[in-house]
Order: sequence, then structure tokens, then C-alpha cells
Amino acid sequence: MPAVPVESHPPLRVALLGCGVVGTQVARLLAQQADDLASRVGARLELVGIAVRDASAPRDPAIDRSLLTEDAAALVERADIVVEVVGGIEPARDLLLRAIGAGAAVVTANKALLAEDGPTLYKAADDAGVDIYFEAAVAGAIPIVRPVRESLAGDHVRRVLGIVNGTTNYVLDQMTTTGMSLEEAVKEAQDLGYAEADPTADVEGYDAAAKAAILASLAFHTRVSLDDVAREGIMSVTADDVAWAAQTGHVIKLLAIAELRDGATAAGAAGVSVRVHPALVPTSHPLANVRGSFNAVFVEAESAGELMFYGRGAGGAPTASAVLGDVVSAARHRVLGGKGPQESTYAELAILPPSAALTRYQVRLEVDDRPGVLAQVAQALAAHGVSIEAVRQPGTPEAPDGGQAAGVAQLVITTHTAPESALAATVEAVAGLEPVRTVTSVLRVEGA
Ligand code: HSE
Repeated sequence: MPAVPVESHPPLRVALLGCGVVGTQVARLLAQQADDLASRVGARLELVGIAVRDASAPRDPAIDRSLLTEDAAALVERADIVVEVVGGIEPARDLLLRAIGAGAAVVTANKALLAEDGPTLYKAADDAGVDIYFEAAVAGAIPIVRPVRESLAGDHVRRVLGIVNGTTNYVLDQMTTTGMSLEEAVKEAQDLGYAEADPTADVEGYDAAAKAAILASLAFHTRVSLDDVAREGIMSVTADDVAWAAQTGHVIKLLAIAELRDGATAAGAAGVSVRVHPALVPTSHPLANVRGSFNAVFVEAESAGELMFYGRGAGGAPTASAVLGDVVSAARHRVLGGKGPQESTYAELAILPPSAALTRYQVRLEVDDRPGVLAQVAQALAAHGVSIEAVRQPGTPEAPDGGQAAGVAQLVITTHTAPESALAATVEAVAGLEPVRTVTSVLRVEGA
């Protein structure tokens, strides 16, 4: 298609809601790349206002202060495209609904809002016949929403495994490479600005769970909300767990997992398991090499096979890159006609309960070192239908005083795939065995 002369279309009015780290970069790039963007869209993109809470607060010099306004509701009424980088549920939801009601296309980076109440926005956009784009809501700069929503629309996605939270990946990577404790690594992440003063949303897995819900909805054409995601953060991961992971050829990662299970429901229909938890990932898996605060999403699709998307999951300019890509898509539709994809929920798959998750486990135990103990433990697993893949009996564990505990053996048991419910019952039974002193840890193994 020949390029549309920029002059032939009036400028498109862009309103920006929020001027934090990401908003500042969106405003800077809209100005700095104005000519390129105009050529790509076929019309100039004119930033008509930036809504902020306090228009008198200090700002980056890249911000044209004359654009600042505290009246976001009025701003969205006079825009063709509204970009929301405020975050949180309100007032973001109200402002986006107003923007859609006023006929604007919307671009949002708001994972929490989409995971909690995305369908309200999708429906409003559909009813109004406007675009809603949200590439920046999952894994920052990494193109993953568009690939799953559009590029893989002709395939069947079976599984999505993602490292979608940079803060926790940084913390776990520091623990792996330096041996430091979780508390030390979180403190370091805070000092470097990777973790917030209150790191709850990251370390407890809420941020990753919101992204998992969005990815699962897109991958499986089924509504998945934050409440559907089984969530476990990284706070219980110890330096010892990380060291053991290395000894057994794994690294510990916080994974967002969404997978299709054929015939998993009571009625024999397919279901979807969506969860976030720390997991042992074999060092040979591509996700094991995602270091520092980087993100990656590994997708398994029936025809495409395995795909991996890698890059920066946070930060001003990287996230602004994803936002601007969406702005260009929405703007092109304004100039050339057409519309982006709508919500796709036709599959309506059941969301499986956490107890139905199927995975492999690594269980570490301290037991009395005498004949027959291993047999007793193996029998307890067998009684619950959990099959053992491998057992290691590494050296004698260290006693708390730094010496060697006499008569105590460490067992590291890796199971074959088992349902979470069977594993929970098994661990309880094993912990109750007379020669078992402690169940030191139970970690899931993914990506094998
Ligand atoms: N706090 C997130 C992270 C970035 O650490 O990856 C925004 O979702």
C-alpha cells in the first residue's frame, strides 16, 4: 500500500494519562520521533495534554509543562488516542471508560486493571468500535501480547511459561550467582531501584499473576482473571534451596505458567491451569539463562513448536517502546480504517483449581540414617500414587552448630509428574514417618 501523505490527514490528538517513569519517556519519544511516527502513521501525532496529579511538581526537562493538566476527565474528551500509564484500578478504569465513551482509541500498560476487570474495558471498546491495545501490560518492551493475540491466532497454544517479573528474577539471580540470602538480595534490588520500598506486589507474585491472567486469556481464548491464578511468591526461597538447585542441575525462577490440559475436567473437557510460583528450571532450558532483571516468555504451540520472547520487562524507555507501537497501530486505523482485534473468549475453557496442577517435584528430607528408611519413604510416595524419578543421598547435612549431624541423612527425591493434591497428601504422610526428621523443602520442577 502506498504511504499516505502525512499532510492529507489532520493530526491525531494523543492524550497521556500519567507522567511517571514510563509516561515521561512516552512524551519524550512522541516529540523526538515525531517525523518518523508521522511517516509511519500517515498523520502527525500531536500530544495535546498530560494528566498528572500535581501539575506543579518537578518534571523531567523533556516534558513540555504547558501540556500538564490535573483535569484528566476533560483531557480524555479531546483526544483521538488516550494512553494510560497511571496504573491501579481507579481512576484509571473510569478515565479509560470515559475515553472509550468519547470515541477515543485507548492504549494502556495497566496489567492490574486488565487482570481484574479487562472484560469491562474490552466490551466498552467493542461497543464503541474503538481499539484497545495493551502490549506494555505484559513484560514491558517484549512483544508478547501481539504475538499471542495475533501472530499465533492460527495455531493452538499448549503452554506459556514466563519470567514476567524483573524484580524477582533479579533477586533470584543474585541469590544464584552470589549465594546471598533472599533478604540481602531484596535489599540490594531496592538500593538499585529494581524493587520498590514496598516490594509486596513483586515478591509475593501479584504482578506476575496479573500478567499470567492476561497471557492465559489471550492464549486460550478464555476469560482468566487475577482470582483464577494460583499464586505463590518467592519469600520462602532460601539460599540453601538455591544451592541445592544448582547441585541438581537447576536454577530457581519465579514462573508464570498457563497451560492447557486436555480432558482435565470432571466432564472430560479441556481445562486451563494458571499459576505463579517459584520453580526449579533445568539449566539446559532457555528460561534458565534469563539473567538479572530481564524477562522472557516461552510459548509452546502445536504447529509453531517452541518460541521464546526475551528482553527488558520494565523501565521507562523499554515500556514506552511497547506503548508507542500500540499508539502507531491505533493511529494507523484512524488514518487508513480498520480495527485491532477484539476480546476472544469463544473457547470458554474451565479454569482448573490449584490442586489439579500437574508437575514434577523435588522434595528434600532429613531422615535417620539407618537401613529401611528409604524404603519407608518410597512406600509412602507409592501409596499416594506418586512415582519417583530419582533419589539422591548427598553428604550428611550440616548440623546447626556448623558440625556434622551424626546419624542423619539428606534425601533429595525427584518425582515424576503428579497432581498437586497427591503431592500435598504425600508430603504430609512422609513428614509423619518416624525416621523423617524434617521435610526441608518441596519445590516444583518445570520446563523439563
Ligand atoms: N515491577 C515489575 C517488574 C515491572 O519487576 O518486572 C512492572 O510490571
